[in-house]
Amino acid sequence: MNELLNVRNLKVIFPTERGIVRAVEGVDLHVKPGECIAIVGESGCGKSVTSLAMMKLLSSPPALMQADEMTFDGKNLLQLSEKQMLDIRGKDMSMIFQDALTALNPVMTIGRQLDEMFMRHTNMTRKEAMSASINALHLVGVPGPERRYFDYPHQLSGGMRQRVLIAMAFAIKPKLIIADEPTTALDVTIQAQVLDVLRKLQKENGTALILITHDLSVVAHMADRVYVMYCGKIVEHAPLRDLFTHPKHPYTQGLLSSVPHLSDESNRFVQIPDNVPSPLKKPSGCYFHTRCAYCTQECKERMPRLTDIGGDRMLRCHHPLGGE
Ligand SMILES: Nc1ncnc2c1ncn2[C@@H]1O[C@H](COP(=O)(O)OP(=O)(O)OP(=O)(O)O)[C@@H](O)[C@H]1O
Ligand SMILES: [Mg+2]
Repeated sequence: MNELLNVRNLKVIFPTERGIVRAVEGVDLHVKPGECIAIVGESGCGKSVTSLAMMKLLSSPPALMQADEMTFDGKNLLQLSEKQMLDIRGKDMSMIFQDALTALNPVMTIGRQLDEMFMRHTNMTRKEAMSASINALHLVGVPGPERRYFDYPHQLSGGMRQRVLIAMAFAIKPKLIIADEPTTALDVTIQAQVLDVLRKLQKENGTALILITHDLSVVAHMADRVYVMYCGKIVEHAPLRDLFTHPKHPYTQGLLSSVPHLSDESNRFVQIPDNVPSPLKKPSGCYFHTRCAYCTQECKERMPRLTDIGGDRMLRCHHPLGGE
């Protein structure tokens, strides 16, 4: 198996004063070199905790994490020390966060921040780093990169700042980038432009990408495969096209129904009612049963298993849409 990242049975809990929050409940996922996968689900379903756990960036305490397997590029991440992880995070995996203003240093020009990235991870001199940084800004479509190099983060628009974060993530030529809601803070037109840049660099560099979002329309032109998460569990996994044309989980269909143009009119139209249950009080049986139009007694009583349904698809549902 030539997986770049392989995660099996990842669990993360947060013991809190009000009880134990089971944020991630046995997640399995894998990413091949150069592949783009998406993790999709509503707020609070465990997307960010999953990605932080995979980079071993969760602070413990409060987080308690365990997994049967977590290998990246042939290395067992579970056994690596923080010092070894620092090396991997700097060189082979990097992360793009949602909020560029917090991710960037406000008192350093963006040029200097890029320079430092190049100098820390390559043998470049300051002068070489400066021209690499200007080139990196050019590649992510920052206009007038020679001038913008001297700007501080607050002098750039949100879209431009996000491009700088993308430039920083690709600067070290990592094998894997995890982008957690990279465009959520941007308006729709800018969002599309930034996603285009991300996709272009991902393809050109052959970088594997984990794209995390609550918005299925974001993944429509990007991902090869999609994992749908609900209340800390994967509920459906499918190649992108199959997921969009034939969603099997009512939750996936609910997410799709909020994406304009993409929902097939012949599908049953299901809006997801109510809110995500509290992580301290998850429902019995299938966690989605309280919001599901197809709920039966069995759904209230028994958690469905994540089952291989063929065609590179996995499903956790007693009553799949469109039959088995
Ligand atoms: N430090 C913490 N202490 C207690 N609970 C936490 C902590 N961090 C996260 N959680 C809980 O873990 C669950 C998963 O959170 P996570 O941030 O992964 O959600 P998410 O899917 O990324 O949501 P969003 O779309 O809002 O970013 C949530 O219920 C959250 O409240
Ligand atoms: Mg999040």
